[in-house]
Amino acid sequence: MLALSSANPTQAPVTRFSAETCCLSINQFHLAYAGKTALRDLTLDVPRHRVTAFIGPSGCGKSTLLRAINRLHDLNESVTHHGQIQLEGQDIHASQMNVTELRRRVGMVFQTPNPFPMSIYENVAFGLRLQGRMPKRKRDDIIEWALTSAALWDEVKDRLHRSAWQLSGGQQQRLVIARTLAVQPDVLLLDEPASALDPISTLKIEELIRNLKSQLTLVLVTHNMQQAARVSDYTAFLQQGELVEYGPTDQVFTNPRLQRTENYITGRMT
Ligand SMILES: Nc1ncnc2c1ncn2[C@@H]1O[C@H](COP(=O)(O)OP(=O)(O)OP(=O)(O)O)[C@@H](O)[C@H]1O
Ligand SMILES: [Mg+2]
Repeated sequence: MLALSSANPTQAPVTRFSAETCCLSINQFHLAYAGKTALRDLTLDVPRHRVTAFIGPSGCGKSTLLRAINRLHDLNESVTHHGQIQLEGQDIHASQMNVTELRRRVGMVFQTPNPFPMSIYENVAFGLRLQGRMPKRKRDDIIEWALTSAALWDEVKDRLHRSAWQLSGGQQQRLVIARTLAVQPDVLLLDEPASALDPISTLKIEELIRNLKSQLTLVLVTHNMQQAARVSDYTAFLQQGELVEYGPTDQVFTNPRLQRTENYITGRMT
């Protein structure tokens, strides 16, 4: 159950889920690039087996937050952060956290499809091969399952050993999703996954996102308000690195608590 509590409606609500439903828990998380704040004391929970959309103007910190969730900032020496991000109750910055395992559990898909220069089959097998040896039969089964889950199997089953680069942009993005799914993540972070795609491919990705939530937890960054309204269960609105409003998508879109949210979702502020 979502519990919104705020004494002052002009302040961001503290948004919590119970331990049974919470997948990611972000607590007063603050991040700066070379001392310049990009995320300001963010506190929110992401529920398991739901689609949570992060929306907000360009530069508000959406991608920074997604990158923080699977520790992609680790290699950037200018980044400093404090506060906590927990995945299924485990602090992702704890010394015992294995970063490779964290990135298996938290998959990430970017705006531009980035298949590797290899066959369709090898793209999906890539993460599996890193996990060690496995009988070919088992690997083939996982690859079929991942491509089916990514709604691509029927389109590629007769050309698995052809180059992934021969696929259309929309197919490439679904292939990247299949590659991520093959290692069975708990969470899929999608950073504007359809913004480079045509409308039909976009609808396929949206349908895929809706179908995947029975298997895992999804976080979707999008600039497309209709898309957020169509596919997400919860929506978080960020502005200048702060959480402005968070709640069930229906409520945020039809009855936002704050004028700032309404201005953004109705296009009066970009
Ligand atoms: N590698 C970086 N080094 C320095 N500053 C950065 C870096 N990446 C992002 N920033 C800054 O952090 C802030 C948040 O950027 P971020 O990319 O997270 O925004 P965003 O919400 O994803 O925007 P968009 O919708 O345009 O993708 C911006 O002010 C940006 O300039
Ligand atoms: Mg971004």
